[in-house]
Amino acid sequence: MDIKIEKTTTPRQKPQTDNIPFGSFFSDHMFVMNYSDGHWHDARIVPYGPLTLEPSAMVLHYAQEVFEGLKAYRTADGHIQLFRATENIARMARSCEKLCVPPVPDEDYLQAIKALVKVDKDWVPTAPDTSLYIRPFVIATDPKLGVHASSTYIFCIITCPVGSYYPEGINPVRIAIEGREVRAVRGGTGFAKCGGNYAASLHASEIAEKNGFSQVLWLDGVEQKYIEEVGSMNVMFKIDGTIVTPSLASGSVLPGVTRKSCVQLLKDWGYEVQERNISIDELIDAVKSGKLDEAWGCGTAAVVSPIGEIFFGGQDYTINGNKIGPVTQKLYDTITGIQWGKIADPYGWVIPVC
Ligand code: COI
Repeated sequence: MDIKIEKTTTPRQKPQTDNIPFGSFFSDHMFVMNYSDGHWHDARIVPYGPLTLEPSAMVLHYAQEVFEGLKAYRTADGHIQLFRATENIARMARSCEKLCVPPVPDEDYLQAIKALVKVDKDWVPTAPDTSLYIRPFVIATDPKLGVHASSTYIFCIITCPVGSYYPEGINPVRIAIEGREVRAVRGGTGFAKCGGNYAASLHASEIAEKNGFSQVLWLDGVEQKYIEEVGSMNVMFKIDGTIVTPSLASGSVLPGVTRKSCVQLLKDWGYEVQERNISIDELIDAVKSGKLDEAWGCGTAAVVSPIGEIFFGGQDYTINGNKIGPVTQKLYDTITGIQWGKIADPYGWVIPVC
């Protein structure tokens, strides 16, 4: 793919702090490519700025859009690398299929990410635990109000230097278990990374935040009985020595790249990992009987985040004395160690950029 590059003449202000709030400062350039007449064309890197859309653009009305989230990391010797980018690319293809969006060819996608990160390499931060968050997305642009798939699209990639997703950093978060509203239903878009899933989660998340929780933990949309995921991460529990995480079989849980990495590491460390339905009753019984050793969330933005408290049925339950547990810590250290090139990558997860 031939990518035209137009460099900015007015560089943007970089964040003046190492404690960079997530997703608030955008780097100088963005990648853009258009889809029409059945193919992607006009690949370009241009200064970050507004996209021009008609007010009738279909994405604005029917939310035909998909997105991804991945990161570029600066190693101690100044190189820049991606983590499992091909997994994000494959997931976006699955999201595209569900949302009737034409997929971006895999090689073009990776080339676009690498080219953009190279152009904005000075935006990959150097402070510990910081990285460049990469947000690719596709939006439907046909100026039409009939409910059909669009025939034109924009694929865009923006990037932003980030620190921790949660203000708590690696300290345990408080999560409210949502017993009334649901995020996704069987047969719906839960497994896809599309804006609609996140819009549907806002109302319950806002109430939870007002009550002092970081996020909500969703239950399944059929029986409201089985644990699914937290707003921005998958969840895992260590119960009586065994690792349990909600199965992806229902199609309503996001197949997280960090989740997949955690499962692989845990199995390689000799843990029994069960990907299965876990009911809220089973979880609460495990806390009450002292068998819930640890709970954590995992996601690209959140990395590995200990869960210190869960709120359900009007009651607060503390997990592992509201401290990070040894398995959570080991996962965090190993995954971030590989991402920042501090420890060896025996899995071939790292993709060098420059
Ligand atoms: C990610 O972890 O990359 C996400 O997309 C979660 C959230 C910031 C929407």
